[in-house]
Amino acid sequence: MNLKDLYINFFVSKGHKQIPSAPVVPENDPSVLFNTAGMQPLIPYLMGQKHPYGTRLCDYQKCIRTNDLDSVGDTFHHTFFEMLGNWSLGDYFKDEAISWSFEFLTKVLNIPIERLAVTVFAGNDIIPFDEFSYNKWLSLGISENKILKTTEDNFWIAGETGPCGPDSEMFYWRSNDPVPNYFDGNDDRWVEIWNDVFMQYEKKADKTVVELPNKNVDTGMGVERVTAILEGVNDNYLSSIFKDVIDLISDISKLPYEGNEKPFRIIADHIRTAVFILADQSLIKPSNTDQGYILRRLIRRAIRHAKKLGIDILSNWDKQIAQLIISKYKKYYQELIDNEEIVYKELENEKNKFNRTLEKGLKEFVRVSNKDIDGETAFHLFDTYGFPIELTVELAEEKGLKVDIEGYNKKFKEHQELSRSSSAGKFKGGLSGNSEIETKYHTATHLLNAALKVVVGKDVHQRGSNITDERMRFDFNCDHKLSDDEKKQVEDLVNKWIEEGLDVTVEEMKKEDALASGAECMFIEKYPDIVTVYTIGDNVSKELCGGPHVKNTKEIGHFHIVKEEASSAGIRRIKAVID
Ligand code: ALA
Repeated sequence: MNLKDLYINFFVSKGHKQIPSAPVVPENDPSVLFNTAGMQPLIPYLMGQKHPYGTRLCDYQKCIRTNDLDSVGDTFHHTFFEMLGNWSLGDYFKDEAISWSFEFLTKVLNIPIERLAVTVFAGNDIIPFDEFSYNKWLSLGISENKILKTTEDNFWIAGETGPCGPDSEMFYWRSNDPVPNYFDGNDDRWVEIWNDVFMQYEKKADKTVVELPNKNVDTGMGVERVTAILEGVNDNYLSSIFKDVIDLISDISKLPYEGNEKPFRIIADHIRTAVFILADQSLIKPSNTDQGYILRRLIRRAIRHAKKLGIDILSNWDKQIAQLIISKYKKYYQELIDNEEIVYKELENEKNKFNRTLEKGLKEFVRVSNKDIDGETAFHLFDTYGFPIELTVELAEEKGLKVDIEGYNKKFKEHQELSRSSSAGKFKGGLSGNSEIETKYHTATHLLNAALKVVVGKDVHQRGSNITDERMRFDFNCDHKLSDDEKKQVEDLVNKWIEEGLDVTVEEMKKEDALASGAECMFIEKYPDIVTVYTIGDNVSKELCGGPHVKNTKEIGHFHIVKEEASSAGIRRIKAVID
């Protein structure tokens, strides 16, 4: 049995309910682009909300961390990874959490006790020394020399604010050298394998820490790392998770892994992450913003390294790798089966797009790289040859050169503002490249947002939206299921506004002025200082938005709500079509 199954079975046997992995793109948490930890989708429940599955939960969660995307290439960095976790929502606390961690490690995974060491929170001005955990580990047989009291890294929080608490980390001696009889946190042969967080606090924006209504437990164990340890390999890419992917890259490139580790690892890692982003329910596509840009960077970086290995880029190397990855994971993730064709198609599209300019771009890079790269040149490589800035930086680093990133950002911003206003002026085109039907859906989204405020309440706000050529999806905060009557009223109001033939007008203004005028917006920090505001009719709707939109609501057609359902706690979702 593999690690995921062993873990879930163990915690189910301890009264936990297995919950499904949430999508990699968080549905209602605009503060992050991707889920970065198993606890992220559980934040509302750690804060006190009742979870429908009860108070003991466990899962394996798809996570993506891109802060060290550029470190991928060594033995243990990954952009995608799976995190195992078990949670108590006001149920058990330190005693059971530590006992079960110990039991799982020593009885299920059969790790010898002497290869384990732990840390406990030493205490600070606000939170005391975690004496309970210290004594608990001692009573289980971990020797005093292998329990380190520390405050460094022993307080866990996902970002700046939110649920948090002192933690107790478990380490494994990963080396053939004799196990020392004490723990040294600076010796990297001791690797962290699991973290038990005792989440009983909430950190507020003003940095104060208050007690949560519940004492919770949040734990996290990295599947890739622990699998490698159990299989006795010092390189995660040689564990059963990656080995066959590495072998496939070797078959395709006709090169050995040894001596080519970095490009092999980058290709394996990046294609795996791209597969999971493309198959996610959010249906992100490569683009120049947010998650789409990360996806683009991953695919383009993989392509560049495949080219380095002499792989024929236009062959189906990427599909072969994606196919193998999907076959390895589909038992656990249904979306890989449902969206398999989308994954291949989008990889192919992006590959073809990049391939058209890659060769010329690389030549251009050689031409301009006789000195450090200034901002304008870096922007030219991006704009004309599709080189994400990070790719230019990587190429420059290979030649020992620097890139003026600040200069690049300045150029990028100038260009963005230019495109924004030109797209706003023409009501189409621009960077977004939306189709005519998507444009209609865009405007319908604004009308729906406005109608919900009239019918359901003025505190209703947009929490997410997704548009395709076929339908729109709109998430909003609301504490109840909409009644049939409410749905009908919303639908009728949107159609009334459409029939009235309201003009859609656009103006540019300072962000502060836009907000002061009462314009609606979802993530204020995502907008530049000068924003475009779309107004429909005589103040039916006013929203900050990059567009594009129809000129007159008459162009939309007929609006029809297909479904209204729960999306997550406190968030409802409407699916609607126009015909
Ligand atoms: N949330 C904790 C972590 O990611 C368990 O380490």
